[in-house]
Amino acid sequence: MSGDEVDSGKRRFLVAATTLVGGVGVAFVAVPFISSMQPSAKARAAGAPVRVDFSRLEPGQKLTVEWRGKPVWIVNRTEAMLGTLKELNPILADPESRTSDQPEYITAEDRSVRPELLVMVGICTHLGCSPTFRPDVAPADLGRDWKGGFFCPCHGSKFDISGRVYASMPAPKNLPIPPYHFISETELIIGEDPKETA
Ligand code: FES
Repeated sequence: MSGDEVDSGKRRFLVAATTLVGGVGVAFVAVPFISSMQPSAKARAAGAPVRVDFSRLEPGQKLTVEWRGKPVWIVNRTEAMLGTLKELNPILADPESRTSDQPEYITAEDRSVRPELLVMVGICTHLGCSPTFRPDVAPADLGRDWKGGFFCPCHGSKFDISGRVYASMPAPKNLPIPPYHFISETELIIGEDPKETA
């Protein structure tokens, strides 16, 4: 996947909704289906924070943006998705994310600032593949106990809808959470901690 994309697990389309913070001042208007202007590769590689407008992200959908050359997922989680978190704790390797790469203001099970909105680096902690978004419950290939989450096709690691890895998987840790904070009801900045924690 490239660019900023919404992925509901069944359909994909482009939305252009990111800007570099403090960058060259290029702003984008959301335009489905066509590619759009992006921050320069040089600026992205330098790790500039990225501003994301997620106003078009519907419940159950995932948006992918690029930060520091990595895919960062933003998932608008439903109540049903959040309801699976506690019951999965016994079969996870690190349900409280004690060994995970995440900011200290990220809480245990939902691993987020706003519970409904997951912001996470989409790179497997095993060997760096990008897991697939599998929000479907009990699909044939993942089994009837699958509650929805992320599946890494390279070596089969399973993660829940908070990116917490199941026990006995090749991936040693939960998926990383980047620093981020909200600047409005529908916009956030990836790559910067909230001011009060900086
Ligand atoms: S890279 Fe994901 S399981 Fe190996």
